[in-house]
Amino acid sequence: MDWVLIKDVKDYNDREVTLKGWVYNKRSSGKIWFLILRDGTGIIQGVVLKNEVSEEVFNIKDELTQESSVIVKGLIHADRRSPGGYEIVVRDIKVVQIATDYPIALKDHGVEFLMDNRHLWLRSRKQWAILRIRHTVYYAITEYLNNNGFIRFDSPLLTPNACEGTTTLFTVPYFDLGNAYLSQSGQLYLEAGIMSLGRVYDFGPVFRAEKSKTRKHLTEFWMMDAEAAYVEHDENLKIQEELIRFVIRSVLEKNATELEVLERDIEQLKKADAPFKRMTHKEAIEYLRSRGSDISDKSDLGAKDEVMLTEGSDVPVFIEKWPKEIKAFYMKRDKDNPDLVLGADLIAPEGFGEIIGGSQREDDHDLLYQRMVAEDMPLDEYQWFLDLRKYGSVPHSGFGVGLERLVQWMSGVEQIRESIPFARTIYRLRP
Ligand code: 4AD
Ligand code: MG
Repeated sequence: MDWVLIKDVKDYNDREVTLKGWVYNKRSSGKIWFLILRDGTGIIQGVVLKNEVSEEVFNIKDELTQESSVIVKGLIHADRRSPGGYEIVVRDIKVVQIATDYPIALKDHGVEFLMDNRHLWLRSRKQWAILRIRHTVYYAITEYLNNNGFIRFDSPLLTPNACEGTTTLFTVPYFDLGNAYLSQSGQLYLEAGIMSLGRVYDFGPVFRAEKSKTRKHLTEFWMMDAEAAYVEHDENLKIQEELIRFVIRSVLEKNATELEVLERDIEQLKKADAPFKRMTHKEAIEYLRSRGSDISDKSDLGAKDEVMLTEGSDVPVFIEKWPKEIKAFYMKRDKDNPDLVLGADLIAPEGFGEIIGGSQREDDHDLLYQRMVAEDMPLDEYQWFLDLRKYGSVPHSGFGVGLERLVQWMSGVEQIRESIPFARTIYRLRP
């Protein structure tokens, strides 16, 4: 008898199949009992009738506990009332292992307890849904880039210098060579890559010793950095918008069930797939002040500011042209106003905050050099980066997408720690 995945049972109506999975739940009423089975691809209701199975199989119900592993044989049967549209009329159940005292019941637990048991919590319906959405988002990002001429270029994780400032660096002792740092972003290396390949991206874990305990910060998260030669500020934003809209459409198309499990308002996601808005940093500050904020001219935007700026907007908003003092050394100066840089942050709607940071890069050797000197950076560690401005420098731009932030927004979950299998935060290293 065929081993079938629950996601495929629709192709096996009225046929005998074997399902392999775990007991999600069971319900019993006299001569009939129901086994809710999950197998990683989906969930299905099994119907066990006293008259149709051996006494032994019928009585297994007393033994079966939540999360016990079982192999079930039976007949697939279309039933409009059952979740998923199909059920399995059980003929046989083979116990693989009885789970004893599974700690997570199908009721609400405290978050700390659930995070301590993350290795088990992953099995619950909502976590399952989020992880599948994460898979779609990951795949959609790479699909978009691969279809648009970007070449995968893997940047190193052990690095001798900082990409995004020195305050969030993790240090690792490195043999006789002193200290290495865990990468905060592969961007600087990608800038070397484009001079060979034109358009490149990396996608992997990055590290930030973030001391903040917010619902949006991890110390280890996944970033996709993209970089492109001869692409300037406006086109950089266009690529980001197309990419994010492609991701939204992919999730809507592939994860209808998961979005339903999460009770995600999909109308909001549909509305976000429309032209994005743009606002300069100056306009953002003025707007915030008009709403009663006392924010100063050269301030970075905090979480509350981001929420206020996107309130009433169905689509993400680019905040562009920032005061140079509050952005990274590598951003290109705006030729119309040298106090500003051609950087942009993309802020998601519905309060999910910044999902992308990017910019056109300073391609003038001397301007970049002066900026690095002014910031007191160790020039010998960045010599190779300055070299890129000496041998055929070209205008170029790029951006970095935080995978978990994007997954958090698509899934509509409150906390970023649920958008990665095993979250790392300032307070959590286990399991
Ligand atoms: O804005 P960031 O710091 O930009 C860079 O690192 C650039 N070098 C990227 C580039 O231009 N190639 O980080 C990019 C994105 C943020 O917009 C956010 O989505 C995410 O990474 N991010 C975090 N996600 C989770 N936890 C944190 N601590 C994060 N810090 C940044
Ligand atoms: Mg940023």
